[in-house]
Order: sequence, then structure tokens, then C-alpha cells
Amino acid sequence: MIKKDYKMQFKELNKMKRITFLLILCLPLSLYAQKFKGLSPTPPMGWNSWNTFATNIDETLVKEMAEALISSGMQAAGYNYIVLDDGWETMTRDKDGDLVPDPNKFPSGMKALGDYLHEKGFKFGIHNCAGNTTCSGYPGGRGHEFQDARAYASWGVDYLKYDWCDHGTASAKETFKTMGDALFAAGRPIVFNICEWGSNEPWKWGKDIGHLWRTTGDITDCFDCQEVYSLGWKYILASQAGLEKYAGPDGWNDPDMLEVGNEGLTLAESRAHFTLWCIIAAPLMAGNDIRKMSDEVRDILTNKEVIIIDQDPLGKQGYRFKVEDGKEIWVKELSDGRWAICIFNSGDSTAEITLKWTDLPFLEGKYKIRDLWQKKDIGKTKKDFKAQIPSHDVIMLKLTPTKKGEK
Ligand code: GLA
Repeated sequence: MIKKDYKMQFKELNKMKRITFLLILCLPLSLYAQKFKGLSPTPPMGWNSWNTFATNIDETLVKEMAEALISSGMQAAGYNYIVLDDGWETMTRDKDGDLVPDPNKFPSGMKALGDYLHEKGFKFGIHNCAGNTTCSGYPGGRGHEFQDARAYASWGVDYLKYDWCDHGTASAKETFKTMGDALFAAGRPIVFNICEWGSNEPWKWGKDIGHLWRTTGDITDCFDCQEVYSLGWKYILASQAGLEKYAGPDGWNDPDMLEVGNEGLTLAESRAHFTLWCIIAAPLMAGNDIRKMSDEVRDILTNKEVIIIDQDPLGKQGYRFKVEDGKEIWVKELSDGRWAICIFNSGDSTAEITLKWTDLPFLEGKYKIRDLWQKKDIGKTKKDFKAQIPSHDVIMLKLTPTKKGEK
């Protein structure tokens, strides 16, 4: 009866009023972003061309890198996205407004490259920008979002890193939402990396739109330098403290790609950088030349016991527990009651540390301790932990609760 009354009343409204009424009903739907869910239960891992090659990329380089990722054991360790960063397109769109892969750099085209990567067991990632042009001056996606998303889907793209140069006065949230909606409409599940550099706090709105969001400006290969548009990893790390509550499965903070193995870092700095990125559940995008990496660098990037900390299924980002005299303790809660504890010496000389387990209030009962870089079990949390840590290096421990009755 009541239903019938509504029907009658609706029919009595004139056409304009009916349209307005329907529009008001639909409005909340259009405000909700749509994204493919479940694509990044743990932080994505892979290799990206930017940190070493900038725009000097081509088909041969990508294929050689794919081979090197396989032969070095990187793929087996979990690095499965290969992402072409800026520089893959020509400087203008074609007459239909489509993006054009540079025919000199990628003569076989993007679909063929995608097929090649898929055959080799990789996923295919690509870069573009939410503004009019990319940071290197190539055509950006603004105003072409749906058309570009269809192109990426047709090439077999699995991951889009979407940058934030040349955005004018555009709203970040609205602009990234448009691209997120376009990817959803194109129908191919594509991981969406909101590369917005943290200027508009994407950790507060990124989760509805994409799967990860950049939290900082660009990383560069140094420990503590500060340039106009780029920063050493020490500063990037410091800016991540407090963001942990925003991260979780399908929505990760991205403190930028790895500089592990690149020229400006010592081996200790590479190891510490990698370890701390794992503690803060960062996406692990290697940015070095895999074809030429040393055995020591390969051992860092493929240390499965450390990678597992990053990829733990509980999906909790670690946090800075304490800073004192250049010594920092970062901790990460893991599944099954385990914890990862990283002690980082940011000072310029070797530091002596003593850790009293009773000072870590989140621990309950006794734990077995494993040192993940020495790859050794080193006892239980019965007595204080003492160690010397070289400058800019770390110790990474995994604590596993002892079973009932276990001494
Ligand atoms: C921005 C991004 C970088 C890289 C470059 C490409 O600076 O933050 O990661 O993609 O653009 O031009």
C-alpha cells in the first residue's frame, strides 16, 4: 500500500523533477571510487627502471633485466613486477589522442612486451602521470583517463604508477579517483600506484582509489643528502613514523623505490635501507642494474627471511618504537604472535647497544630469537641483548613465542 503511494506520487512529478530526484539518488554512488580489490594483499615487489636508467629505457634493456631477475634468483624471491617508468612514449599523442610507445625504443610495441613478460612469469607495469605531462615532459593522462586505461588493459598491463607532475590546480583526490575509475571501467585488474609524493596526504584517501600511494618526494642513492626534489633514505624513513596506521592489505604506504646496490650507498647502508623498508611494509621495487649487481647486493635483495617480514600476511606496517643517541628501534608485529625488531645505528661511528626485553611492553612471555642477517638462532629473551652495530647498519631480529613447556 505504502509502496503504491510512492509510485503514484513519483508519476505525478513533472519530468524535470523526476530527473532531479533520480540524480540526487545516484549522487552518492558517483562519489564512491571503484577499485579492483584483493590485488595487493602484501606489498608489491618488483623492479622499476627509473632509479638507474631514468628515461634511457628500451625493449632490449627490459628483456635483459627480466633474464637477470630470473638468473639471479630475484624472481624466485618474489620480485614479480617489471615496471617501465617515464620515457616509454613519444612526445605527442597520435591524431586520435592515443599514447604512442616510442617506436625506436619499443619497436615490437607494448602488447608484445607484455606478452613476453607474462610468458617469463612476470607482471607488466607502466608509468604515466595525472597531469598534462610527465615529469620528463611526455604526454600525461589528464583528460584522457578512460582512453589510456583501455590502452593499458589492451596491452596486458598489470600495474600503473601514476605520477603527479604538471597537475596545475587539479585536486589530487579527484584526479586520481578519475584514473582509478577509468582502470576499473577498462575491466582488467591493474594495481594502481598513486604516486602523489605525499603532498595531499594520500594515506587518508588513497585506500578507496588505489593499492599503494607514495608518501614522500623522490628517493636518491645516498644515506643523508637532501636535494631540491630528492632525499636520502634516512630522511624518507624519518618521515614515515606515524603513518603506520594507514597501511594494510590492498593499501600500502610507498616510501619510494629501493636504492639498494646503487653507487651512493655503502653495503651497510643498502642493508639497513632494505631492512627498514621491510619493517615498514614498503613495496619492494628494486632500482639497481640487476645485470651487474655484486653477490653481496644480491644476497641483500634476496634474503628471504627478511623479505618475509615485509610480506607477512598480517599486513601491519612496523613503527618506530624508540630513538636515542642516534640509535633507533623499529618494530613490526607479525602473524602468529611473532615480532620483528630492527636496531638501526644512524650515527657516524660503531654503537654499542643493550636491549632489555622487559623494556618492550608489547612482548608477552618468552621468545626464541633469530638474527636474520647472520641467519642464526641466537637464544631466547631471557637475558639482555647486547651487540655492536657499525655506523649506518642494522641488526634485524625475529622473535617467535616459545611453546608451553619449552625452556
Ligand atoms: C617523479 C616520480 C619518480 C619518477 C619520475 C619520472 O619524479 O616521483 O619516481 O617516476 O617522476 O619522471
